[in-house]
Amino acid sequence: MGRIERFTLTERALHWVHAVAFFAMLLTGLALYLPALETAIGRRGLVKSTHLWSAIAWGAALVIVVLVGNRRALRRTAQELDNFDRDDLRFLTGRSGAPQGRFNGGQKVNAILTVAFALLFAVSGVLLWLGERDTRFRFDGTVFLHDALMWVSLVLLIGHLYLAVINPRTRHALAGITEGSVREDWAREHHAKWVDAPAVAPPEGVATPERSPV
Ligand code: HEM
Ligand code: HEM
Repeated sequence: MGRIERFTLTERALHWVHAVAFFAMLLTGLALYLPALETAIGRRGLVKSTHLWSAIAWGAALVIVVLVGNRRALRRTAQELDNFDRDDLRFLTGRSGAPQGRFNGGQKVNAILTVAFALLFAVSGVLLWLGERDTRFRFDGTVFLHDALMWVSLVLLIGHLYLAVINPRTRHALAGITEGSVREDWAREHHAKWVDAPAVAPPEGVATPERSPV
């Protein structure tokens, strides 16, 4: 059965760097936030520095992947995620059968929220850190924003994991983000406009799938 390349090594590295760092910050963040967990662990100082070092490692690793990786592929993917059409809207309003491109409407929303939340996490986290050292950086809403982002991200993540590892219709996507390729028949069922894109001279910014017999 034919397979189609879905994610380059750079895209997969970016995804997994972000995911691993996110889990580290989520777990240490929860240990700072939930009194029961804080008491059970008992080492607030250590948890807090793990949280902060995870944030620094996360930022550094993302920059390294972008600098040494395939930036053209990342630019192309960013353009695809940013390009919202009528079919994406139909998908989001629950109308079945709307053909989808390389990413469906829900994935586009998830990706945009992930980037926006990462920036807001970083800004509010840096303000929390600075606020401990200088009262000029202490603002009423900073802790609330940081905590609210955590709760909304947690809900998004649970939905993301359900689709990626549990739902039998969608979980084949895991092969794309781990090995890089997916089955052509699965891709056609879920991303028809992407699979059927013209094989030569695509318009700028539109990726065409690379097929390889397996
Ligand atoms: C650049 C990224 C981040 C930075 C610089 C950062 C920084 C901080 C700092 C300085 C604190 C205060 C620690 C304390 O004194 O108690 C904190 C708390 C916290 N962080 Fe982060 N953080 C980041 C990302 C995240 C992420 C991605 C999550 C969750 C997914 C998260 C969840 C939390 C939670 C739940 C708390 C506890 C807040 C509270 O006590 O109400 N953080 N963070
Ligand atoms: C064990 C954890 C995770 C698994 C198994 C997983 C799985 C996947 C899979 C299979 C895809 C590709 C979907 C496709 O074919 O287009 C994907 C894409 C993506 N993942 Fe994850 N992921 C994980 C963690 C995370 C985390 C923690 C975040 C962000 C906080 C995240 C954000 C994204 C985004 C933005 C995309 C692209 C848009 C989308 O497909 O929704 N992932 N992930």
